[in-house]
Amino acid sequence: MNVGIFGTGNLAIALGRAWATAGADIWITGRDSARAGAVAAKIGGPTRAIDPAEIATAVDALVLAVSWEGLEDALALLGGPDGSLAGKTVIDPTNPVDFETGRLALPSGSAAELIAGSAPGAQVVKALHLFAGTSWPYVGPAESRPVVAICGDDRAALELTASLVDRLGAETAILGGIDAARQLEDAAGFVMRVVVAGQNPRRAVPDVEPSA
Ligand SMILES: NC(=O)c1ccc[n+]([C@@H]2O[C@H](COP(=O)([O-])OP(=O)(O)OC[C@H]3O[C@@H](n4cnc5c(N)ncnc54)[C@H](OP(=O)(O)O)[C@@H]3O)[C@@H](O)[C@H]2O)c1
Repeated sequence: MNVGIFGTGNLAIALGRAWATAGADIWITGRDSARAGAVAAKIGGPTRAIDPAEIATAVDALVLAVSWEGLEDALALLGGPDGSLAGKTVIDPTNPVDFETGRLALPSGSAAELIAGSAPGAQVVKALHLFAGTSWPYVGPAESRPVVAICGDDRAALELTASLVDRLGAETAILGGIDAARQLEDAAGFVMRVVVAGQNPRRAVPDVEPSA
């Protein structure tokens, strides 16, 4: 599988390394081609750097591993507003959250819907925003596999994202269409607040067996 990553920061490196180890071909792009080249070298293997305007045609899925404030700029470099991402699975791991307060930075909607609105035809999936990049790949006991909650409107894009989550060693829970993204993004703020309050968020949600 060919996986594209827009971003040259911590999450891009962590996901790129984990997926490359799992056998995917990684393509890195960003606003700075020298940084993209350096990150591709850091990830290693057959990882390549590529111009943002060319990445959509090279990959099966594209992850936008950028600060949420940079989303519109990134989409412009990718040609998203001109339709370059039409039909493409676009994974949004961003956290539009005020890290001081844990509140969502967007007054309404979500970063994922912002992407869908700015990149006509893109099959946007919200995913991978809650767990730190250092969580991947998960290599612990199978019964403790992390569950990555995702949402999106396109079935094939959700399935492709689920297969990428599987390659990280995790499982997927599909929570609904893209209109569920605000709740998913708010969950990140909740997690941050629990951490700031001095507790482990793992113990801040009930242990519920779905079959019960
Ligand atoms: N790190 C994690 O563990 C983690 C986990 C889950 C979700 N996330 C989310 O993933 C996203 C990236 O996190 P990160 O930790 O990788 O952040 P980071 O290390 O600070 O990297 C941010 C990336 O965004 C790019 N960027 C910022 N403004 C931009 C703009 N205006 N136009 C184009 N690119 C821009 C930066 O480009 P330059 O290098 O050129 O400055 C850099 O590649 C964030 O939304 C974060 O909330 C992170």
